[in-house]
Amino acid sequence: MDTVSTGDIEKLLRVNELYINFYTYEGVVKAIDGVSFDIHPNETFALVGETGCGKSVTARAILRLIPTPPGKIEGGEILFNGVDLLKIPEKEMLEYRGKKISMIFQEPMTSLNPVFTVGDQLVETIALNQKVSKEEAYNIALKMLERVRIPDAENAMTKYPHEFSGGQRQRIVIAMALSCNPSLLIADEPTTALDVTVQAQIINLMNELQKNMGTSILLITHDLGVVAEMSDRVAVMYAGNIVELGTTSVIFEKRYHPYTQGLFNAIPVFGKGKQTRLEEIPGSVPNLLYPPPGCRFHPRCPHVMDICRKEKPELIELEPGHYVRCHLYR
Ligand SMILES: Nc1ncnc2c1ncn2[C@@H]1O[C@H](COP(=O)(O)OP(=O)(O)O)[C@@H](O)[C@H]1O
Ligand SMILES: [Mg+2]
Repeated sequence: MDTVSTGDIEKLLRVNELYINFYTYEGVVKAIDGVSFDIHPNETFALVGETGCGKSVTARAILRLIPTPPGKIEGGEILFNGVDLLKIPEKEMLEYRGKKISMIFQEPMTSLNPVFTVGDQLVETIALNQKVSKEEAYNIALKMLERVRIPDAENAMTKYPHEFSGGQRQRIVIAMALSCNPSLLIADEPTTALDVTVQAQIINLMNELQKNMGTSILLITHDLGVVAEMSDRVAVMYAGNIVELGTTSVIFEKRYHPYTQGLFNAIPVFGKGKQTRLEEIPGSVPNLLYPPPGCRFHPRCPHVMDICRKEKPELIELEPGHYVRCHLYR
């Protein structure tokens, strides 16, 4: 079987056998190649992998924000509380997007409009999504800014995005995303643009908000340090496939898949007070116009066998709840 089942555990989101292509002038980019995972209530689920592996496309598909054309969802289901979001009319989607499911995008500045004050943007978003008066929306906005620890929130409401630091802007974006109390927050590289100390503050903030508000988080990152700090379970993604999926502790400890092993070797090593160079995985993520046949990782895999060049491996449950897509474990 090629699907991930987690028995009787309650699911908030279930992505099932998702396929997405992009029809470009150069040809068909086979970006998402049968991706399945689910997210439980109250958990932080991380999607990790190098740039170009399909993390953002997967996230955007959940909110039906794939630009069409060139993108096309070719198959699969995205079940949110049992409702297939790929089947409902666009009008119904408005009840999910920004309300039940909200998203922090990879490019933090694109979420804030430079020509409006932070207050106007927050109030607008809240009034639009929650059908409350401007006055109530203002009070909710103020509370959210305090919650994400923006100092002097009342004054902050009157300022423009450029008057804040990068870290503060990201706090404001988080406030906006959480203002309507979503069941699922999708955070696409929420700390990548920030420096290390600010990253740590944002991670602590998200952990705290998640605990207090009970929001599930789909956390997208290529930073394994962030994964270790935040997530309950992890899916490792390579070239449009999930190659390993399990609890964060088992993933960190066992690293069954050669790609997972490669990613973990790329963690920076701290020694004698200075950061040593990353050990990178040789080669690069393939151009998905021409995905390698068989296992998409085979051209970079140190353990490559004949079968890997011909047959796509199935997802195998190696331990309860721990899945690996690799011919080494057949
Ligand atoms: N609009 C698009 N047109 C063509 N190809 C795209 C488009 N958006 C994404 N892709 C392709 O989909 C693949 C996955 O991209 P993405 O999800 O952004 O990767 P990640 O977020 O993991 O870095 C890449 O090969 C990328 O080139
Ligand atoms: Mg991305």
